[in-house]
Amino acid sequence: MNVSHSDALVFFGATGDLAYKKIFPALQAMVKRGHLQVPVVGVAKAGWKLAQLQARAQESLEKHGGIDPAAFEKLIRLLHYVDGDYKDPTTFQSLRKELGAVQEPAHYLAIPPALFSTVVEQLAKSGCTMGARVIIEKPFGHDLFSAQELNRTLLGAFDEKAIFRIDHYLGKRPVHSMLFFRFSNELLEPIWNRHHVESVQITMAENFGVQGRGAFYDQTGAIRDVVQNHLFQVLANLAMEPPVRTDSESVRDEKVKVLRAIPPLEPKDVVRGQFRGYRSENGVAPNSQVETFVALQLQIDSWRWRGVPFYIRTGKCLPVTCTEVLVRLHQPPTMYHGLNLQPNYCRFRISPDVILAFGMNVMAPAEEIGQSVELLACHHPGAEEMDAYERVLGDAMAGDASLFAREDYVEEAWRIVDPVLKAGTPLYEYEPGSWGPREINQKVSPVGGWYNPTVEG
Ligand code: BG6
Repeated sequence: MNVSHSDALVFFGATGDLAYKKIFPALQAMVKRGHLQVPVVGVAKAGWKLAQLQARAQESLEKHGGIDPAAFEKLIRLLHYVDGDYKDPTTFQSLRKELGAVQEPAHYLAIPPALFSTVVEQLAKSGCTMGARVIIEKPFGHDLFSAQELNRTLLGAFDEKAIFRIDHYLGKRPVHSMLFFRFSNELLEPIWNRHHVESVQITMAENFGVQGRGAFYDQTGAIRDVVQNHLFQVLANLAMEPPVRTDSESVRDEKVKVLRAIPPLEPKDVVRGQFRGYRSENGVAPNSQVETFVALQLQIDSWRWRGVPFYIRTGKCLPVTCTEVLVRLHQPPTMYHGLNLQPNYCRFRISPDVILAFGMNVMAPAEEIGQSVELLACHHPGAEEMDAYERVLGDAMAGDASLFAREDYVEEAWRIVDPVLKAGTPLYEYEPGSWGPREINQKVSPVGGWYNPTVEG
């Protein structure tokens, strides 16, 4: 199938935080690689002119990644700006005018979720949806109901093939390379099931707080911010069956099947926490009940996984910034019990560096006891060559949906977390710099304990 490339990128929320931290750096990188040569139209309600947006782009790049003079100059020449309220039809008439002869724009909604529907409706009314694609930031909806509503609104204006629901975790190469590792090594498949896997832990730890995003975060919380999307994508990559082909639909079909096999979470399987001091952050309610930490346990009721507990844990203000998966295997029925044997494991570190390792037991050199060692399959230090935002924006403009969440997937993900979002489960305070509230040890704790990643790897 011949898929055309978008001939303009329109991004709503051009003066916002996401644009400042992620989008301008991604755009400059795309220009540098020769992947962006079409007009880029920023839209926002700031009372600005183009020169102010250009200055903002410069400031953003100075802060995040640095200016590449040649690429920056080209980006500045591609940049356009439309100022106006998203509720006001004249904003969209101005946009249509600014687009001129453009026929297949990609509209990127880097704006608060509450505004998605308004913008989509206005785009449709102003004739800006013809031949267009739409790229939507997460969280996609607020719960199952709102996600279904949003899907209906989007599908009223765009074909599913033209809708790109961003989860920038999918643009991270290490997340993708988990699939490659699983499905390109014969070694793994025989043990990758309930007969050999005792439990799976996924930890996404961040050693910083809400970084000035209090108002957004206090409407969101950890479950909506990263579990329902980023961490479920990691889970799906770990648990899915091999797709029959590598095209986007075959891969996405398998991912949805994983989520379909997960029963809705129950309050007893979830511990929510809030770091001490969160309520004094700008934009946060003084009595906020929003979680900055969550640990949960879930089951995948499939032939491969039934009975294997999957644990997910994430939080702000934890001791390190790191995303890591630990797949622990059963202990063998060995005659060497009591000799300090540890279960074998497979460890994937997704960020900040990439590690693939196996934990094994060997006999200690001088004593009659076991010693745990790690077989390192790979260690790729440091930053990736291509940022996740660069990858997903480039793919959306090229019409490749592989790295985007499909309608059915998003709704399944909400179905799983919906009951705990509504249950108002207890919220426990934790000290910044700790591994979350103590209560997780009584309530959501893997056999053998949580594995806490360290900075050293
Ligand atoms: C975002 C969340 O989607 O992902 C943030 O809103 C989180 O709260 C971020 O910090 C983590 O992504 P990355 O790529 O910076 O590790």
